[in-house]
Amino acid sequence: MYKNLIMQLESLSEGVTYPVTILSNAAAILFNSLKDINWAGFYIFDGASGDDAGTLLLGPFQGKPACMKIPVGKGVCGTSAARDETVLVRDVHEFPGHIACDSASNSEIVVPIHSGGAIYGVLDIDSPSVGRFTNDDKRGLEEFVAVLEKYI
Ligand code: SME
Repeated sequence: MYKNLIMQLESLSEGVTYPVTILSNAAAILFNSLKDINWAGFYIFDGASGDDAGTLLLGPFQGKPACMKIPVGKGVCGTSAARDETVLVRDVHEFPGHIACDSASNSEIVVPIHSGGAIYGVLDIDSPSVGRFTNDDKRGLEEFVAVLEKYI
């Protein structure tokens, strides 16, 4: 399953260097291929100075409009970025500090993305079903992100 998505990502990204272009198709691949999900997309880390320094900003996605800024350390996305590890949430209502963007979401997986050895952002996928994401999804999505990291 994920091998097929990775092949699609590789063939679409070949020769493309603009990250927004690659992340847009990556969100579309995931949203249209994974069953039982209601949101798939990216938050990009802005480490620069200014008002948004240290904040994850909404990037390319598919699904309902979502919150545009998430401080590192907050919510599932900010927790994944702060810990630099995948966070798999069986039931978002049991995750302290979960940020509800779409009330339909009940479970969530967030995978950190790196560039040049630093956090670049996160991949976030939401599902209306409790317990939708398994360790197989974790492995598959981490492989998907590893391929993405070659292009961004
Ligand atoms: N639930 C996320 C916020 C982003 S939306 O799900 C698209 C969080 O707690 O970080």
